[in-house]
Amino acid sequence: MDGYEFARGLDHASIVAASERVAWTVDEVLEGRSFDASRPLVPASWVGTNELGFLDRDEQRVLNHCRAFSYAHLLGNFEEFAPPHLGGIVQRDWHEDRARLRALLRFGDEEMKHQQLFRRTEEVLAQSCGHPFVRYFDDDKVRVTALTNAILAHPPLPRFLMVLALEWGTQRHYVESIRDRTEEPGDPLYAEILRAHWVEEAQHVKADALEIAILARQMTRDELTATFDHLLTLGGLVDTAFAGQAAREIETLRQVTGRAFSPEQSDALHETLHGSLSGIMAGVGLSHPRFVDVALELSREGAAKLGIAPRG
Ligand SMILES: [Fe+2]
Ligand SMILES: [Fe+2]
Repeated sequence: MDGYEFARGLDHASIVAASERVAWTVDEVLEGRSFDASRPLVPASWVGTNELGFLDRDEQRVLNHCRAFSYAHLLGNFEEFAPPHLGGIVQRDWHEDRARLRALLRFGDEEMKHQQLFRRTEEVLAQSCGHPFVRYFDDDKVRVTALTNAILAHPPLPRFLMVLALEWGTQRHYVESIRDRTEEPGDPLYAEILRAHWVEEAQHVKADALEIAILARQMTRDELTATFDHLLTLGGLVDTAFAGQAAREIETLRQVTGRAFSPEQSDALHETLHGSLSGIMAGVGLSHPRFVDVALELSREGAAKLGIAPRG
């Protein structure tokens, strides 16, 4: 579509058909199931604290469970802006192609279901692990409302690009961290949650590509370059949440183990946890070859702002 290579071969009718075929319910994924809290739930590389010698085995395991929680907690809250973000497009183009609008409305509905999946995952994790986890996003939704409003203040194109990066990241989380993992099998329920999420996100990345092509077609070269400045600001917004949730992981570890850390240890721990959280949630998506292709095709100058350079 519109000459963009990244949108070639994609069409809304196929996206809707695939979405109907792979759909699942939250109960089908979680009902009556629990996590095996005697073991790590996510790959050690997701946490990145193995090199911190002042943590013992039990503390490493608690941090691993904290990371499993943080992933669900952050994605569930990040996805809150998706329905109004997509709804704005639907409202503007209400008389457009039926298949396109259905793809966007299903996309929004699926993100709402994912929010329910991740909230239930938080609860099942607390039950399985036998302790609560400290949350960055509060129950009164003050933080998530502020984040949602801040994201929606940016134009649609950088919003779609942020969603695209996060969504390509979910593919890596499932495929590379769970399905292709050979050294130690992952927790079966956690793997199932990642699988269920990805099979629907796999339709979203196609819908994103089509919307990105439609929006980009109407923009000048300078506007496309400036889109990446918006994307950097959006990256800063989610990074604040990464830093905040990394601090909550340390708080949970303190509560569960009673362990006291020196200021130096606390700093090292926070730096490591913040870095790994940002790496697994933003870094894996921004460096995904499919995202890199989209960024480069839209604007090489813009992509360079994210540190993305043409290959070879
Ligand atoms: Fe999602
Ligand atoms: Fe999605």
